[in-house]
Amino acid sequence: MNRPKVVVFNSASADGRVALSADTLLLFGDERWTNVAGSSQDALDWLKLTYQPQATLEGSGSFVVDGQEPEALPPFEGDPAPLYEDFLPEHIVNRPGHRGWFTTVDGRGRIRWLYKEFPSEEWQGWHLLVLVARTTPPAYLAYLRREEIPYLVGGEGHVDLGCVLEKMAHRLGVTCLLSTAGGRLNGALLRAGLVDEVNIDLFPALIGGFQTSTLFASPDLRPDEAPARLRLLAAQVRDGGNVWLRYEVVPPVG
Ligand SMILES: NC(=O)c1ccc[n+]([C@@H]2O[C@H](COP(=O)([O-])OP(=O)(O)OC[C@H]3O[C@@H](n4cnc5c(N)ncnc54)[C@H](OP(=O)(O)O)[C@@H]3O)[C@@H](O)[C@H]2O)c1
Repeated sequence: MNRPKVVVFNSASADGRVALSADTLLLFGDERWTNVAGSSQDALDWLKLTYQPQATLEGSGSFVVDGQEPEALPPFEGDPAPLYEDFLPEHIVNRPGHRGWFTTVDGRGRIRWLYKEFPSEEWQGWHLLVLVARTTPPAYLAYLRREEIPYLVGGEGHVDLGCVLEKMAHRLGVTCLLSTAGGRLNGALLRAGLVDEVNIDLFPALIGGFQTSTLFASPDLRPDEAPARLRLLAAQVRDGGNVWLRYEVVPPVG
């Protein structure tokens, strides 16, 4: 499979939680989190400089709490078939100053976007790209087209991550993707065998919780599946007692 190298980064408590609870988002900042987690910006900057990823990845869980009803969209009337073609407008893909794709999986069409390009120096030249499935509601795909938000289609039900990563490589020339997604999307990448490197900025706090997102949350291993083996690349003790662990995923034998 010709796909981008996938580097995962997460900030996690010592008990592996990547969020405070199932009904809180870290997107807009939460003092309870920053007070214990500190900032991972220098680690992220290092990864961006070292790997020069042309795409980042988030899941819809970074933007919308489960069970939260999205704002209704006008129903789509007409033949939906053309909506299920990839939408990559030439003037966006080839616009001057392009640096990367801020990519988000949103198979259920839950996110209503405030920005297509992000108003900060750090993300200048980065454009939104949404990953959807053939079961994504047509009203959402019509909304993305109206808003001129590019999207790639792959999979039924859940987005087929292998398929859309291949499209990102072939159609957009992406050779490295940095996933800063929550536990479930990174877990889905893991189960699909799509993770090459794991970075965890482990901070000295315990969060607990039964529903709280954890590192690589995913279906239980089947009897014929084995844990993914990791090879340590580096371990760095950081300010405040954080430990940045860098692992390479060892490809399974056979
Ligand atoms: N500490 C950190 O580093 C960090 C980073 C990011 C987010 N967070 C926090 O983590 C929480 C969100 O994490 P989460 O685990 O709830 O959400 P998440 O990681 O965003 O997972 C949900 C996303 O994964 C997709 N997905 C799930 N299973 C899949 C499969 N088998 N194949 C393809 N796609 C699949 C879902 O698709 P659909 O859209 O189709 O449903 C959805 O987009 C939030 O609180 C957020 O603030 C923490």
